[in-house]
Amino acid sequence: MAKFPELVFSGVQPTGNLHLGNYLGALKRFVEMQKTHPCIYCVVDLHAMTMPHDPATLRRTTREVTAAFLACGIDPKKNAVFNQSRVAEHAELAWVLDCVARLGWLNRMTQFKEKAGKDRENASVGLYNYPVLMAADILLYRATHVPVGEDQKQHLELARDIAQKFNNDFAAGIAERGYGDGFFPLPEPLIQGPATRVMSLRDGSKKMSKSDPSEYSLIALTDDPDAIANKIRKAKTDPGALPSEVEGLAGRPEADNLVGIYAALADESRTEVLARFGGGQFSAFKTALAELTVARLAPIRAEMLRLNADPAHVDSVLAEGARKAREIAQPNMDAVKDIVGLIR
Ligand code: TRP
Repeated sequence: MAKFPELVFSGVQPTGNLHLGNYLGALKRFVEMQKTHPCIYCVVDLHAMTMPHDPATLRRTTREVTAAFLACGIDPKKNAVFNQSRVAEHAELAWVLDCVARLGWLNRMTQFKEKAGKDRENASVGLYNYPVLMAADILLYRATHVPVGEDQKQHLELARDIAQKFNNDFAAGIAERGYGDGFFPLPEPLIQGPATRVMSLRDGSKKMSKSDPSEYSLIALTDDPDAIANKIRKAKTDPGALPSEVEGLAGRPEADNLVGIYAALADESRTEVLARFGGGQFSAFKTALAELTVARLAPIRAEMLRLNADPAHVDSVLAEGARKAREIAQPNMDAVKDIVGLIR
């Protein structure tokens, strides 16, 4: 297959209450990727409509996630930062890919089964189609690398299958137009490592999640320093001391989680963290962890609060991001139309 220029694409659903897990698992990596790659970061508002939603909340959370992107250090001058619905080609390409993807492929998607629950007949058609829209997001830009969480791996595989089938089904027209043996690259997932998978502070076996009923389970990016220190002090641990070696974290999910958070925030390995804190009690470690967390999150929080009070600025970033995204999306969509036989 032809070599495609490297391009990073990722999407985040607009939700309120972004937390430390979102930061370490996604946003911090997005910021790092922009140093080495051209990146496109999209607030996927169309995906947010696949479950029952409130329009005013969708507007607010779309702006909040954008504010979080910016506050964490994503540079909207270097990268396209925009909301998905602004670039109509996402929905347009999704239709074309709907006609490429097979029902059997979609029937295997585990996230649909989870989200639809028992009453599947009552799920929206959009929820079923969610993975095809996600494939369209990525393929529209012919993106090559997609930083996502482990839970999105199956959707990425589907995107690759769709790209491959499109390339095969329309191989003649693709070659004829000078695209070699493939119009779409097969996008590669960049799955977050274990160091950045943040678990609940109340239960080391569950992911940190905005839907957790206990407010002590997560650290929100807008939590103030007292709230952060309080939540870390109350975080669940076990009675042992901190081990000196990484092996000693096995079977101790809460200890592993706190050490992992420290390591990720300090840009160190767990080994380095344990070399310093191993053998000590949790109380001292928690104090250090709280200080580090506050130090890292305070500037992000301040910037998020500032941006949340300035929606006009956030909207101007989204408008400019959409303009940039469209510059890539439009010619690609035109090519797709030509390839599949739509007159334009
Ligand atoms: N489904 C992704 C999630 O929930 C969000 C998403 C939508 C996405 N489109 C995307 C992620 C394209 C990466 C690329 O996390």
